Amino acid sequence: MPATADRLPAWRRRRWNTGERIGMRVEEGLFRMVYVSRNAIPAASQEAEIARILEVSRRNNQAAGITGALLYSADSFAQALEGPEAAMEALYARLSRDPRHAEVLVISAGPVAARQFSQWSMAFAGRHDGLSFAALQGGLDPSAALLAGAAGDPG
Ligand SMILES: Cc1cc2nc3c(=O)[nH]c(=O)nc-3n(C[C@H](O)[C@H](O)[C@H](O)COP(=O)(O)O)c2cc1C
Repeated sequence: MPATADRLPAWRRRRWNTGERIGMRVEEGLFRMVYVSRNAIPAASQEAEIARILEVSRRNNQAAGITGALLYSADSFAQALEGPEAAMEALYARLSRDPRHAEVLVISAGPVAARQFSQWSMAFAGRHDGLSFAALQGGLDPSAALLAGAAGDPG
């Protein structure tokens, strides 16, 4: 009988995963979501408030196994989050009732094999005034800006 991957015990089957062969850490039960929202923080306190959000996020996310990136503009946020499904649900519940933003719109969510932001409990991907809430709501995808912005954050 040929030794096909699906007859191997689980510990051996994992070795067939392409991600692991090229050195990516593959995790079971990993979820990623990207959302956009309307920035509800008064302009004068945005910088200080976002610094506070990042500080709390880094502490909580590290404890919960969540990684990701956050960017903002004068009137919007975009955030990528990845981690174990239950931890992601708990975070989303807190996030969605945070008065510092509104109209949270999830633009993608689902299982993934590996993290894109593994080095950052929450990367600060910068201020991007070109990404207005109207444009994001209209379908402008913030993923490239999140990835490129995170790369500039030493973590
Ligand atoms: C745009 C935005 C992004 C946030 N990202 C995170 C995050 O990644 N992790 C986190 O723990 N809290 C994040 N927060 C803060 C949460 O909404 C919440 O205030 C925090 O987790 C503390 O929750 P608690 O007061 O219920 O303990 C974010 C808030 C905003 C407005």
